[in-house]
Amino acid sequence: LIVTCADAGQSGAAGPRPRLPAEAGRCRAITVGASTVLVTEHGSDELARRIAALPGVRRVVHPVVGAPLASRGCVVEDSAVAVGPVRFGGGGFTVIAGPCAVEGRSRLRRIAGLVRACGASALRGGAYKPRTSPHAFQGVGQPGLRDLRDVGRGLGLPVVTEVVDVHTLPQVVEHADVVQVGTRNAQNFPLLREVGRAGCPVLLKRGFGCTVDEWLGAAEYVLAEGNDRVVLCERGIRTFEAATRFTLDLSAVAVLKHTSHLPVVVDPSHSTGHPELVRPMALAAAAAGADGLLVDVHDEPGQARCDGGQALRPEGFRALMADLVPVLHALGRPLV
Ligand code: E4P
Ligand code: PEP
Repeated sequence: LIVTCADAGQSGAAGPRPRLPAEAGRCRAITVGASTVLVTEHGSDELARRIAALPGVRRVVHPVVGAPLASRGCVVEDSAVAVGPVRFGGGGFTVIAGPCAVEGRSRLRRIAGLVRACGASALRGGAYKPRTSPHAFQGVGQPGLRDLRDVGRGLGLPVVTEVVDVHTLPQVVEHADVVQVGTRNAQNFPLLREVGRAGCPVLLKRGFGCTVDEWLGAAEYVLAEGNDRVVLCERGIRTFEAATRFTLDLSAVAVLKHTSHLPVVVDPSHSTGHPELVRPMALAAAAAGADGLLVDVHDEPGQARCDGGQALRPEGFRALMADLVPVLHALGRPLV
């Protein structure tokens, strides 16, 4: 059973934990957003009813179906994920931008300086790239992680980078501020559990073949390990439509705002696959209620070793950020 304690609520103040009956077995306490949640070893409908009547219990759910930790099943208030001075969720709008792949320190520094000057508050870039073909560029690996960390620190930008397997997770966690789980690993459950155990902030992309519920199920794997620092990222799903690389499902943002407390950002680059579609979809994402963006930017897209065809040039990113300001202003949301 998943038991939400009545103590935390809006204030986040810890109070006395409810004493659960012995039949509940061993009980693990985890923090999810502003709530303390107890995960029991055993559960039945009858036990759930008894626990629900105890003082200090706000609600009890049977987790066999659904994703109670990731959805509003047991946590009602919106959660926010703080990464140093940057916050995902909580009312502001957060832009992560940078190259698709790290391609050397000087280029990374150039692009990072540019996105920062335009108002981005976090740097993206893959040191490990999940590619369709084993013959395609797979990323520069560990040196790229060092480049990301050093460039990010130098400019005061937290770094978001993808982990592609369990073996490289410790290196990625050591160098990154936010660990990205990409669309291709979105249902790699052992990896999700390890990322959960690592306790690091996580950017969890939607699997391109996943429903919203399956995506929340993936988030649940991370949360169930006691890691509530999860940001969801809508990046498009596979449909019959071939005019775009994937179909950006902005309705998922609106759905999630009802069904989940987790922050949601949108990737208009990997979803559309075309730089000219990035700006309109980014603005639409803001209007749909997203908490931020993840955008590919490259100073020479023609030279990019991965996904150059979808990257914004510096002037395109500058224009996008300038256009975002009045949209966010109209929505009453600050760019953070
Ligand atoms: C980019 O970040 C991904 O690695 C890329 O979109 C993979 O696609 P591809 O290998 O089919 O080019
Ligand atoms: C990426 O953002 O670098 C990436 C690989 O995206 P996705 O997993 O959405 O394809």
